[in-house]
Amino acid sequence: MRLRVPRGWSRPRGGSRISDTAPRPSGGIKDPSFRRSLTLFRAFLHEQDDPEACYALLARDSVDQVEAYDGPVAGRTVVDVGGGSGCFTEEFRRRGAHAYLFEPDAAELGAKPPDGAVIADGYLLPLYDGVADVTFSSNVLEHVADPQTFVSELVRVTRPGGLIYLSFTNWLSPWGGHEWAPWHYLGAERARARYRRRTGRAAKHTLGENLFAVHIGPTLRQVRARDDVRVVSARSRYWPFLAETVVKAPGIREVATWNLLLILRRCPP
Ligand SMILES: C[S@@+](CC[C@H](N)C(=O)[O-])C[C@H]1O[C@@H](n2cnc3c(N)ncnc32)[C@H](O)[C@@H]1O
Repeated sequence: MRLRVPRGWSRPRGGSRISDTAPRPSGGIKDPSFRRSLTLFRAFLHEQDDPEACYALLARDSVDQVEAYDGPVAGRTVVDVGGGSGCFTEEFRRRGAHAYLFEPDAAELGAKPPDGAVIADGYLLPLYDGVADVTFSSNVLEHVADPQTFVSELVRVTRPGGLIYLSFTNWLSPWGGHEWAPWHYLGAERARARYRRRTGRAAKHTLGENLFAVHIGPTLRQVRARDDVRVVSARSRYWPFLAETVVKAPGIREVATWNLLLILRRCPP
């Protein structure tokens, strides 16, 4: 089954929409809004049978978010760290950005990675300091053992004044256990064993190996304590309303946020 992409959810049209506080409606669907969240949710339901359409839609939505905070990406240098098969890189390029994919796992790149994709670890990017106008990392932080070092590397390659888009699924999110969610609430081992029983396949993720229990509270404290970035926004990436408010409620936010989106701006040296 193919996904229906709503009309208007294409690249944002014209005009500078630079904002340092909250996203505005772009050429795509208003963010946050029920329509947008529902459309994304429907796409996620078809992630397995139509991954291309699902991730193309997510990429358009994510680049809309970047543009809502930072203006059109055309002509900018974008670094996509842990970008998997490159759908986000491709979307940045479609909008005229000079976008580069860095992905450590050749298998994740798939059969048709974007031209010039580089096999590289996000801990140690083969880039000079401050080369990127936008550094983009979607759903990678929960897959690294040392999130602070990973964030430091994202900051290092971003120019002063540049934007960092950092999103991750936190451990206590209903989706925190990835393919074995929501059974991770009963313990990772149990959830993995259940996944194997039900599907006959070994799960892709193992807690402590390629999936880590990253929490919202400590992550926020760590980024706010840094003197090289300013937190422009901390919000739920997908929520239809109160996207920033939910992140302000300690405890509740760990379950309710689903996926934390941090928009950071690199401070001048
Ligand atoms: C869930 S996928 C996300 C892919 C894509 N960014 C997205 O949002 O669909 C996690 C990605 O993180 C990558 N990854 C894991 N450890 C990494 C590291 N140390 N540096 C950079 N990427 C890493 C994986 O190879 C994988 O492609």
